[in-house]
Amino acid sequence: MNIKKASFVISNTNYKHCPIEDKAEYAFIGRSNVGKSSLINSIANNKSLAKISGKPGKTQLINHFIINNNWYLVDLPGYGYAKASKVLRAKFHKMISDYLINRQNLICLFVLIDSRHELQEIDKDFMQWLAENKIAFSIIFTKSDKLSKTKLEKNLADFKKKMLDEWESLPEIFVTSSNKKQGLQEILKYISKLNLEYKPSLES
Ligand code: GTP
Ligand code: MG
Repeated sequence: MNIKKASFVISNTNYKHCPIEDKAEYAFIGRSNVGKSSLINSIANNKSLAKISGKPGKTQLINHFIINNNWYLVDLPGYGYAKASKVLRAKFHKMISDYLINRQNLICLFVLIDSRHELQEIDKDFMQWLAENKIAFSIIFTKSDKLSKTKLEKNLADFKKKMLDEWESLPEIFVTSSNKKQGLQEILKYISKLNLEYKPSLES
């Protein structure tokens, strides 16, 4: 798929104010600083679409971007931002969980994992929660440019093994680098396929 057009639509704290649910939507989540906003920009081929920062906690809202006037990419705040106050964390948690549970046109949630790290409790718990709430997700490993090929392969194999200790099967997994523009076509191909299968239901 070619990205002909990518533009910002709206930012929200409440899913109820997000755009009408008539187009397929793909959201990006994961720990703070994992590279969600960077990946959205790389996929959309637009460096200034989503706001990026070296410091965790940059994205604080539900941000909608429309691609080719046809489907949405959604940038979400990260979880596990250590410096956020308890109250702020609870607010983020509610904002994100309400969005994930209620958004009818959310076709797939991409859970981003830093390729350098082994499977962390916080990611495991989050994916468990997704399964319990029947929220479809895929996994994207980020920042693969920060590792040697051998180390990357080892981390991936360890991650999959640990996942399979608790899960019957693995979700779709992508390996990416926003800096090196790797793995982006695979994600776009996957989105294209899901877009074809998408039939909007506007009853709600
Ligand atoms: P929050 O919005 O704070 O939750 O963070 P985020 O997950 O959106 O991360 P963001 O895209 O802002 O990137 C965080 C940092 O990681 C920035 O300094 C990016 O330049 C860097 N980064 C993101 N993707 C990559 C990548 O593929 N390779 C490398 N080397 N750095 C990356
Ligand atoms: Mg961000």
